[in-house]
Amino acid sequence: MRGASHKLRAKGKTDPGMHVPVLLEEVLAILKPQLGEIVVDCTLGYGGHTVGFAKKIGSDGRLVGLDMDGGELEKAQRRLGKIAAKKSFHHKNFSQLTEVLKAEQLDGCDIIFADLGVSSMQVDNAARGISYKSDGPLDMRMDKRLTTTGADLLMSLPKEELSKSLWELSDEPDHDRIAEWIVNQGRVNAITTVSQLVQLVLNAKGLTERTWKKKQKNTKFGASHPAARTFQTLRILVNDEMGSLKKLLEIAPVCLRKGGRIGIISFYKSC
Ligand SMILES: C[S@@+](CC[C@H](N)C(=O)[O-])C[C@H]1O[C@@H](n2cnc3c(N)ncnc32)[C@H](O)[C@@H]1O
Repeated sequence: MRGASHKLRAKGKTDPGMHVPVLLEEVLAILKPQLGEIVVDCTLGYGGHTVGFAKKIGSDGRLVGLDMDGGELEKAQRRLGKIAAKKSFHHKNFSQLTEVLKAEQLDGCDIIFADLGVSSMQVDNAARGISYKSDGPLDMRMDKRLTTTGADLLMSLPKEELSKSLWELSDEPDHDRIAEWIVNQGRVNAITTVSQLVQLVLNAKGLTERTWKKKQKNTKFGASHPAARTFQTLRILVNDEMGSLKKLLEIAPVCLRKGGRIGIISFYKSC
């Protein structure tokens, strides 16, 4: 790693179009993949963890990769073409793991791994509207087969439910006020873009771009953006991330062979 790439990493950022796997060494040390084992990476993303697993299970091992994002899955599949293990890829939600194993004619697997949330590639793509960082349509779907976007959800969620979600999913301290601003605005005009939602959150918190930037400058470790928790909440709701996780935890015991292991990373960094 050198030059521009090194500088980006030092700032906690990633090169465009890629994702750095978190806790890779720890995941391998804890889950202990062995030669010849069957590993399911439920959240393929850029494939950083998959490559790590592949090296450990060798050419007799088998890798099954899932991602609900069809576009990123295709790219990962091309990148991972050279890994030695037998491999297959599925454009599926990990809540459908039982179906995937059945389709692969496997009676179970040795390792189930999931690295929850979104990849840097998804966050950096303004057209997805996942992050407050660049303006774009308030889409937020990781899977284009889903029919409800972030904008749709903001129009239909009752205030109480939105407020409760902001609190329960992201510990947003101003949950009531933000929900009120969103619902009141939605009655007048649809909220369809990232910048509209950012502005509403700033209003609800009594901030402007200028006062927020000043506040951020004076915070020792750089405060997170006032809209970060709202964006995270909406994304979790649009993609039913909690529903999928609940289902995965329910089915995992029957998907694992004797001696099987499961590892789940929950790294919710507001983006
Ligand atoms: C944090 S990234 C994974 C990064 C990956 N471990 C790597 O090293 O590149 C999460 C990925 O999981 C996918 N994802 C999130 N929830 C999912 C679910 N319920 N089922 C399948 N894929 C999911 C996202 O589309 C995204 O590509």
